[in-house]
Amino acid sequence: SACGTKSTEEKKSGDVIKIGVNLELSGNVASFGQSALNGFTLALDEINAAGGINGKKLEIIKYDNKSDNTEAASVATRLITQDKVPIIFGAVTSGNTMAFINIAETNKVPVLTATATNPDVTVDPKTGKVREYVFRTCFIDPFQGTAMAKFATEELKVKRAAILKDNTSPYSVGLAKFFTEGFKAGGGEVVADENFTVNDQDFRSVLTKIKSLNPDFIYVPAYYEQVGQIVKQAREMGINVAFGGSDGWDSPKLIEIAGKDALKNCYITNHYSPDRDNPKVKEFVKKYKEKYGNVPDALAALGYDTGYVLAAALKNAKEITPEAIKDALKNVKDVEGVTGKISIDEQHNAKKGLVILEFVDGKQTYKKFIEP
Ligand code: PHE
Repeated sequence: SACGTKSTEEKKSGDVIKIGVNLELSGNVASFGQSALNGFTLALDEINAAGGINGKKLEIIKYDNKSDNTEAASVATRLITQDKVPIIFGAVTSGNTMAFINIAETNKVPVLTATATNPDVTVDPKTGKVREYVFRTCFIDPFQGTAMAKFATEELKVKRAAILKDNTSPYSVGLAKFFTEGFKAGGGEVVADENFTVNDQDFRSVLTKIKSLNPDFIYVPAYYEQVGQIVKQAREMGINVAFGGSDGWDSPKLIEIAGKDALKNCYITNHYSPDRDNPKVKEFVKKYKEKYGNVPDALAALGYDTGYVLAAALKNAKEITPEAIKDALKNVKDVEGVTGKISIDEQHNAKKGLVILEFVDGKQTYKKFIEP
């Protein structure tokens, strides 16, 4: 029948919605990208199994940005000009995301990151203006940095903090600044503010300097490859004070590199804990374990939630175009996620709580929840 023909044609022309994925699937933060992709894929599979978006199935088109700024930019260009995706999911890190937001803005294609926490990702620091095409589903670093400062001051009762940061990473530099502000406001003193760069392997000389300044706490807002070496080498040198860290510590690789003994007396801020007594968390952990065989980390949880945020936006979009998806993302409200309730605010961020975790026997152990 005519009717049947028409519906077949409609199906042919638009039965899928392409979703561009730009993630760190190899390179120095590969476990981040893999987990984020797993969580995102699980959500999209569920959404497709439930009928997709108004009958259209979501199709992932993914490329590996190799944990590299230049690659992240060329992946974005490829997704936009070659694959013509109406939206890009990624990247994980703030630096890799910042590497392609200009490309996305110039081409007017929205970017949705689950994980990039530096404030400058969604707000241009030069103009103070919100970036029209960039959105995220996670909290931001002023919150994460000051939460650790408060925890260190009030619960660990430390007074002399040293900071060791990667000064090539906007994420690390930003967190060091926010921690410093919070720590000083709480009456503490920052006795050292030292730097390393992403390819460093040997941290003994900078740790020697830090040790000589006699801190009672060391804040390392960085990613697991370097953090693992830093904590391991510090303990070998007899530095036994508490370490504070950030979401960038969240990788199964950290325990492999540092060893569980070195991770004793280490605390981090993070987006989620699989151990929280919450039915949504429990159900997600169970489904994820069935599919991938391991307990989901925060990246997986954020990737999963972002799949549902994307679905909410696509459902409300007037049409499946970059422009309409961008408009719909602005209006995302109250998506119940594993990492909290997600609404996109005026700054294109999500206001959510965080968890403080302590490494006990090498395992991230839930300590407390901090309201946004
Ligand atoms: N917040 C980190 C960044 O902006 C990325 C990250 C998120 C890493 C969650 C681990 C867990 O670079």
